[in-house]
Amino acid sequence: MEPLTSEQRKLLIETARRYLKNSYSPYSNYPVGAAVLAEDGVIYGGANIENSAYPSGLCAERVAINRAISEGNRKILALAVVTRNAGAPCGACRQVIREFAGLDMPVILTSPEDGYEEVFTLGDLLPRSFGPEDLNR
Ligand code: THU
Repeated sequence: MEPLTSEQRKLLIETARRYLKNSYSPYSNYPVGAAVLAEDGVIYGGANIENSAYPSGLCAERVAINRAISEGNRKILALAVVTRNAGAPCGACRQVIREFAGLDMPVILTSPEDGYEEVFTLGDLLPRSFGPEDLNR
């Protein structure tokens, strides 16, 4: 996979920060913004959307990924996640990312303002994982 250009990386982070502001998280008060670069070259953003029936809430990463997949994409090339403490994707999101990304896909974790930024690969976050190839279709 081609490495991310600095422009793509910047746009991805800007998008995730913009969506962070749209988070609906009155129960946890933990807003999350995410953005994925999809194979069509478009960046799709998402925010966490909570619900008074707690388990019906959605994580920002899955909102962004589901938007990209619903537009016809089947591959995501990079992901940025923004929280106040540069938090990492939850386990369920890691598995959903695994469905649509290579193990070398960069996951950028950052904060609402410039200053803190860390990059992992999906393989770092989800070692020895289960994925579509395991079903041997
Ligand atoms: N959350 C995300 O949006 N992404 C994650 O990977 C971690 C958790 C959300 C879910 C919930 O709305 C809030 O953060 C607190 O768990």
